[in-house]
Amino acid sequence: MEEHEVYAVVGSEGFGRLVTAFYRQIPTDDVLGPMYPADDLAGAEQRLRDFLVYRFGGPALYIEQRGHPRLRMRHAPFPIGQAARDRWMQLMGHALDEAALPDEAQQLLRGFFSTMATFLMNRPT
Ligand code: HEM
Repeated sequence: MEEHEVYAVVGSEGFGRLVTAFYRQIPTDDVLGPMYPADDLAGAEQRLRDFLVYRFGGPALYIEQRGHPRLRMRHAPFPIGQAARDRWMQLMGHALDEAALPDEAQQLLRGFFSTMATFLMNRPT
C-alpha cells in the first residue's frame, strides 16, 4: 500500500475514530495535557484529522483551512524532547489499537507517526 492509498481504506470516519481516541487521553496526561489548548480540544482534533485525511490521499480540507502544514514551525512553541515524543507515540499507539484500522494501513501509519514525531523534536530531553 502506498501512502496516498490509505485514505481509500481508512476514510474520514476511520481517521476520526483514531484522532478522537488520541485526544480523549490528552486532558489527563501529565506531560502532554498542559501543552494542548484546554478550551479548543475539539478544534485541535479537527486540525489533526483534516491533516491526516489530506496527507494520506483524501480531500485537502486541511490546506484550505490552514495553508501549508509547516509542522516543524507549528510545533516550535511546544517543548518536544524525547519524553514528550515518546509519550505522544504511546498515546497514539493506544489510539491505533483502539481504532482497529485495517492492518496494512495501521502499520504504515505507525511508521509515519514515529518518523514524524522524531522529526518534530526541538530539544534533546
Ligand atoms: C512529538 C510529539 C508531539 C507533540 C508534543 C505535539 C503537540 C502538538 C500541540 C500542542 C499542538 C497544538 C494543538 C492545536 O491547537 O492544534 C499540535 C498540533 C498539531 N500537530 Fe502535533 N505534536 C506532536 C507530534 C505530532 C505528529 C507526529 C504529528 C503528525 C501527524 C502532528 C501533527 C499535528 C498537526 C497537524 C497539528 C495542527 C497544526 C495546525 O494546523 O495548527 N503532531 N501538536
